[in-house]
Amino acid sequence: MKNILVTGGAGFIGSAFVRYMIDTYPAYNVIVLDKLTYAGNLDNLLPVHDSPRYSFEQADIADRAAVERIVDQYKIDTIVNFAAETHVDRSILEPDAFISTDVVGTYVLLDMVRLRGVERMLHVSTDEVYGDVREGYSVETDPFEPNSPYAASKASAELMIRAYYQTYGLNVVITRGSNTFGPYQYPEKLLPLFITEAIDDQPLPLYGDGMQVRDWLYVMDHVTGIDTALHKGQAGEAYNVAGENEQHNIEVVRLLLQELGKPETLLRHVEDRLGHDRRYAMNCTRLRALGWQRQHSFEAALIETVKWYQANEWWWRKIKTGEYKEYYRTQYANRLKQS
Ligand code: NAD
Ligand code: DAU
Repeated sequence: MKNILVTGGAGFIGSAFVRYMIDTYPAYNVIVLDKLTYAGNLDNLLPVHDSPRYSFEQADIADRAAVERIVDQYKIDTIVNFAAETHVDRSILEPDAFISTDVVGTYVLLDMVRLRGVERMLHVSTDEVYGDVREGYSVETDPFEPNSPYAASKASAELMIRAYYQTYGLNVVITRGSNTFGPYQYPEKLLPLFITEAIDDQPLPLYGDGMQVRDWLYVMDHVTGIDTALHKGQAGEAYNVAGENEQHNIEVVRLLLQELGKPETLLRHVEDRLGHDRRYAMNCTRLRALGWQRQHSFEAALIETVKWYQANEWWWRKIKTGEYKEYYRTQYANRLKQS
């Protein structure tokens, strides 16, 4: 048996990875380590809750003593690190936690490989490290030009990983995913926010002219990309995981309104995000060479996603209370008033 520690496994992509690993690999015990921040949600792990190969530990990846205890107790041989503060808008409002989790936390995990006998680590990173790509496609050897505190925290973590690989020869692999969507995504990100607000006929706050371009990747394709890099990737390398599906924000929003049968009058152009990157786009030839292939078309996956939020109000309605409402007010109340 292998003992794999999935940090951030109660979040959106991490929980999809956990559900997939339990289903796909009978020889893996999956131990989730998650701080359960506002974005962590044990409901995301209900489908694996009763599996004898699943365990959960609440802890902070930046808490060295706690992480050491868990690594030793479960005899962890592999770490897959999803744990992060992930929302760009929150990093603009308050960057603190991004440094502590994304940078310091990754450094603590690297030390588990260096000092506590963990054999391999995969770190989940993002296309945002390349910054704004006005034309062409980012390749893994491109320089980093992060533009938000979130992107800079992810780039910083990657630099520490590079240094650990060069210095200690650690067995560490990185993936850089593009904009991911699907079920169980916290409703602060564009798609789940707009789907759930539109279900309630609320205004949809589109930043600026809505002509920013993102490359949309279905969550299960992101998960199989990570699986491929975990099992076949070369130590010290990074692998882009792209959806190869560039869309202007406004087009994506029109599609989802169409799918929901809601009018475009819900759309509001509001004050733009500070430092807003205009476009991300990556080349993923390197991951394809390992045998990975995207399985989902954007349109079909978007329809499935919309249906999931329609069918699972139990999941998102209880999130949209308390802290969430406070955040929503801070982020959007003035913007919507001015629109
Ligand atoms: P998410 O915000 O849904 O989940 C993050 C999870 O990490 C939560 O369960 C949270 O409780 C946990 N966490 C936060 N701080 C922690 C800490 N200090 N210790 C332990 N756990 C902690 O995030 P997501 O969208 O699933 O993203 C997962 C990873 O993928 C992140 O590293 C992110 O940078 C990366 N990524 C995300 C996307 C995307 O579009 N969502 C794209 C590319 C890469
Ligand atoms: O590219 C990968 C990244 O994708 C991940 O690393 C991040 O963790 C993830 O949050 C995501 O970042 P984005 O900033 O691209 O995602 P978000 O859903 O916040 O925004 C997508 C686009 O939609 C972006 O151009 C901003 C715009 N937007 C977003 C929100 C929340 C709006 O116009 N209005 C909104 O209310």
